[in-house]
Amino acid sequence: MRIAMIGSGYVGLVSGACFADFGHVVTCVDKDAAKVAALRDGKVPIYEPGLPELVATNIHAGRLSFVIDMAEAVAEADAVFIAVGTPSRRGDGHADLSYVYEVAAEIAPFIQGFTVVVTKSTVPIGTGDEVERIIRAKRPDADVAVVSNPEFLREGAAIEDFKRPDRIVVGTEDERARAVMTEVYRPLYLNRAPILFTARRTSELIKYASNAFLATKITFINEIADLCESVGADVQDVARGIGLDNRIGGKFLHAGPGYGGSCFPKDTLALIKTGQDAGTPLRIVEVVAASNDYRKRTMARKIIMACNGSVRGKKIAILGLTFKPNTDDMRESPALTIITVLQDGGGAVIAYDPQGVEQARQLLSDVTFAHDPYSCAEGADAVVIMTEWNEFRALDFTRLRNAMRGDVLVDLRNVYNAELAAQYGFAYTSVGRNATASLKTEIKAAE
Ligand code: UDX
Repeated sequence: MRIAMIGSGYVGLVSGACFADFGHVVTCVDKDAAKVAALRDGKVPIYEPGLPELVATNIHAGRLSFVIDMAEAVAEADAVFIAVGTPSRRGDGHADLSYVYEVAAEIAPFIQGFTVVVTKSTVPIGTGDEVERIIRAKRPDADVAVVSNPEFLREGAAIEDFKRPDRIVVGTEDERARAVMTEVYRPLYLNRAPILFTARRTSELIKYASNAFLATKITFINEIADLCESVGADVQDVARGIGLDNRIGGKFLHAGPGYGGSCFPKDTLALIKTGQDAGTPLRIVEVVAASNDYRKRTMARKIIMACNGSVRGKKIAILGLTFKPNTDDMRESPALTIITVLQDGGGAVIAYDPQGVEQARQLLSDVTFAHDPYSCAEGADAVVIMTEWNEFRALDFTRLRNAMRGDVLVDLRNVYNAELAAQYGFAYTSVGRNATASLKTEIKAAE
């Protein structure tokens, strides 16, 4: 199969490289000349484990190339994937589809022979209809089928997710398009990955519903964590206890500082807007988005409370800035809000992150950046574990504690436990596992 991938951002690049690795001939198109030049040299502009190697191998094998001009790639393609960004539109939370529609108009003149146009970008319900209308308006003669094929890639595990997906969703009712998409994904269902064919609008909704459901699961356990703190229960045991029920499942039940990233915040807002516009509000998702937003402030307050009610004049060391480990992505990271609240409260923030510093510099002001966890903790009153990078899972507690001025350790990812932290002299706070001070007194009194 010959594939044209329009947009060499995160999704386009991962998908393009993986398709090439399956043996398809893939041309990735991007308007950014500097990016294309870098990619041709095998330089990958994002941090994604395994991607530079995959890109290099497939360029070398002659199956993966990068171009600015789409004409030839589209003309030769059996399938043209649209993988450009759909940011949240300013003001109303709707997905901004201008890039997707621009691409639809741009590819139309070059389409030759039967061509499947696939929207890989996360797009609101009905976008496929509009993409088809745009192409047909420009090229009434074109033999084209427009298909929805959402991605379910997690940053940091994107290649694994692409190559070993739980499912592949393809939205089309066109038999020829179905045959092409079957061929495109054949290497995967040889691995027994189920491929689900649905109507186009259904496929578009599956993507949003999946992300909204996962966001709901996280928010649910986060609120349960707060309740655990109020009633003296342990959220990790609760998560395990409910997760062992197969109908619930144990994944995505880690309490923490709230979800971030490029997908959940944006996609929940877009789905909420779609529901409202359609006269069928999704009240649960509305509450999830609001609760997650609020949570970031609650987490900042948790840190302030751990510092005896004020961070004024105190030095707070933040370990981890990205919205999750194994990425350099700072988009919607809870760290952004939490750090700003701490600074507003008069705290001085020093931070360390294995990959995210470059992006963080552009989004945060007055933060000092350290080169490792221990220099970050130097002279700090409190250390906060914000993101569960592997290198924070086995910190040298003696060294960390000795570097600090104070003894406060706030673990927003529940990497450690109170007993261990106490052995090293830390005043330890985590999420959903430590009863509030007043409850502790109550429990003690009852004993
Ligand atoms: C997500 C979806 O998983 C993926 O299928 C979709 O296509 C894109 O959005 P991603 O944003 O890369 O992927 O990250 P993910 O691993 O899903 O985590 C999202 C956020 O939720 C992170 O901030 C993470 O820290 C948080 N999270 C996740 C929790 O707080 N608790 C959990 O149990 C799981």
